[in-house]
Amino acid sequence: MSDHDTPRKILRARLLSFRADPAEAGDDAHDYVEDGALIVSEGRIEAMGDYATLAARAGDLPVIDHRPHLIVPGFIDAHIHFPQVQVIASWGAQLLDWLNNYTFPAELGFSDPDHARRMASRFYDVLLAHGTTTASAFCSVAPESVEAYFAEAERRNMAMIGGKVMMDRNAPEGLRDTAQQGYDESRALIERWHGRGRALYAITPRFAITSTPAQLAAAGALVAENPGCYMQTHLSENRDEIAFTAELYPEARDYLDVYESHGLLGPRALLGHAIHLEPREIDRLAETRAHPVFCPTSNLFLGSGLFDDAGLRARGIQSGIATDVGAGTSYSMLATLNEAYKVLQLQGQKLHPLRAFHWITRGNAETLGLTDRIGTLDPGSDADVVVLDTRATDAMALRAETAETLAEELFILMTMGDDRAIHETYVAGRAMKSGAR
Ligand code: GUN
Ligand code: ZN
Repeated sequence: MSDHDTPRKILRARLLSFRADPAEAGDDAHDYVEDGALIVSEGRIEAMGDYATLAARAGDLPVIDHRPHLIVPGFIDAHIHFPQVQVIASWGAQLLDWLNNYTFPAELGFSDPDHARRMASRFYDVLLAHGTTTASAFCSVAPESVEAYFAEAERRNMAMIGGKVMMDRNAPEGLRDTAQQGYDESRALIERWHGRGRALYAITPRFAITSTPAQLAAAGALVAENPGCYMQTHLSENRDEIAFTAELYPEARDYLDVYESHGLLGPRALLGHAIHLEPREIDRLAETRAHPVFCPTSNLFLGSGLFDDAGLRARGIQSGIATDVGAGTSYSMLATLNEAYKVLQLQGQKLHPLRAFHWITRGNAETLGLTDRIGTLDPGSDADVVVLDTRATDAMALRAETAETLAEELFILMTMGDDRAIHETYVAGRAMKSGAR
């Protein structure tokens, strides 16, 4: 047995997993098992089904009985900043001042390997406490931050995506690389980490403002040379950001064109925020199959604006959903759904609870192209699952007394839930929240 192996076992609970987006496939989109079982072995889900049937078939296996809780696939956070664990909850600014006053000073510290390691350990403790088993993170400009990020994920056998931020202008001394250095360091990190264990690399030019055209060209070369890697950045989050970008890139037709003209778009491109879009940008998002990523707590916190989910969906664009900590105000994907619901309400749009739970599991896995490995309870998937307690607080328990349907129960979880509703988090079959690690 390797370090990461766990004994074969049965998890017994209610089960919920998605086959498709409920907004498109209706009731056929999900599987719900009232007295369900997962057989977990060698870090994978071997079987999912009804407890009586699977227990009879499996013979004498240890059973971990999580009834009456609900098991769903581990949550996926499609956009978060690892070096912002001590930036979350910083008062009073919108994007550009917030970056200069709070974020850049904090990110400077991540060139110190000891600091980066300590923060990485705490970062994963917090993610797992909130039920997040996979995230795509921006590290800092320092390769040491990426090393700490992936090394700690490997220690916990977590499927994590991340990359070194590339930025060669409009950032303080000590936080800037150069076009060549950004290319060289990213390339070395890709060689070291991409595809090692469960790690996947994201080429990460921070955003147009902090990269020269030469650096975006270098990022484009990395994308062309490493088609299996992701590309993550920020797009059209804030009006002042958009105006400054237009000054820096006068030739570009619009903000998205800055990225497109440097070869950064495609189905593995993740574009944080994408709030204030021109019609041409929406056309090109649809045509390139790039993914906007909705960050509701961040968009409200920084006063950035309201993400037009229905408008993008109507064009066949598939958006991810994410916390964007530290501009985001919670690590919880449940709290993220709570704010997403409200952002859509303000625009006369709806977020049905089944669609919401699809989004933070299979939906984000589709956005990342990883549904064969994570995001569902399908046999063969990695056993990354969370155990949800709908009665985690007195207020939730009181409300749950009158819930009659699964959808009502899920709506309580997404409206009132946070880390307290995460009873347990399993990573590759191993219980991580209760300290069993
Ligand atoms: N745009 C460029 N960098 C950042 C960041 O760290 N957070 C957010 N919310 N937007 C950004
Ligand atoms: Zn961000």
